[in-house]
Amino acid sequence: MKVLIVGANGTIGKAAVNEMSGEAEIISAGRTNANLEVDITSTESIKNMFEEVGEIDALVCTAGAAAFESVSEMTPEQNLVAVNSKLLGQVNLVLLGLDYIRDKGSITLTTGVLMDDPIEKASSAAMANGGVRAFVKSAAIELPRNIRINNVSPTMVIESEEKYGPLFKGFKPREVKDVGLAFKKSILGAQTGQTYEVY
Ligand SMILES: NC(=O)c1ccc[n+]([C@@H]2O[C@H](COP(=O)([O-])OP(=O)(O)OC[C@H]3O[C@@H](n4cnc5c(N)ncnc54)[C@H](OP(=O)(O)O)[C@@H]3O)[C@@H](O)[C@H]2O)c1
Repeated sequence: MKVLIVGANGTIGKAAVNEMSGEAEIISAGRTNANLEVDITSTESIKNMFEEVGEIDALVCTAGAAAFESVSEMTPEQNLVAVNSKLLGQVNLVLLGLDYIRDKGSITLTTGVLMDDPIEKASSAAMANGGVRAFVKSAAIELPRNIRINNVSPTMVIESEEKYGPLFKGFKPREVKDVGLAFKKSILGAQTGQTYEVY
């Protein structure tokens, strides 16, 4: 089994790698320090990555950025960070990668708790998360060749508490292993169209 993990080097990506490394051959992708170089904000770069990787059984994306700013201060340009990266970056991976995924394969994208449990300055991230979740639910009913698609929606993980803790006051951080297990369930299980909330 061949699993491509875009964003494998990040906090969430590493958890997916840890859970899957005993089960599959992992190919990591990212802008730096990975088997394959890709920038998900560029369709050209995504096409090149898939040409290089060839057929895979599972596509995972744990990459995706968003700008944090209050709605009253946010510029359209700042909002485009989440649109181009977390939303379209992940959706374009599906559109351009589908032909490379084998029959009965799977796709797992990443969303996040902010779409369900708002905090200040996170509307842009929430927008992207909600868009990805809706895309997954809808795409699941028409993906060809029994290919499945799900998304994992983590809350802040313990490993990211130092970085994000001040934003997530009162949220209970979860172990990143729990998030990794949700990716494993999506890849090795039989469900489709799901949002695996790790809150
Ligand atoms: N950490 C948390 O507590 C948490 C909670 C909820 C949701 N999430 C979501 O989980 C996802 C990953 O978060 P994280 O904390 O693991 O972030 P992270 O540690 O910064 O890792 C992000 C990974 O994605 C890659 N990446 C970033 N932009 C990319 C691009 N344009 N093209 C290709 N690769 C790119 C990075 O590598 P390069 O820089 O080398 O490209 C890195 O490997 C995000 O969508 C985040 O919103 C995280």
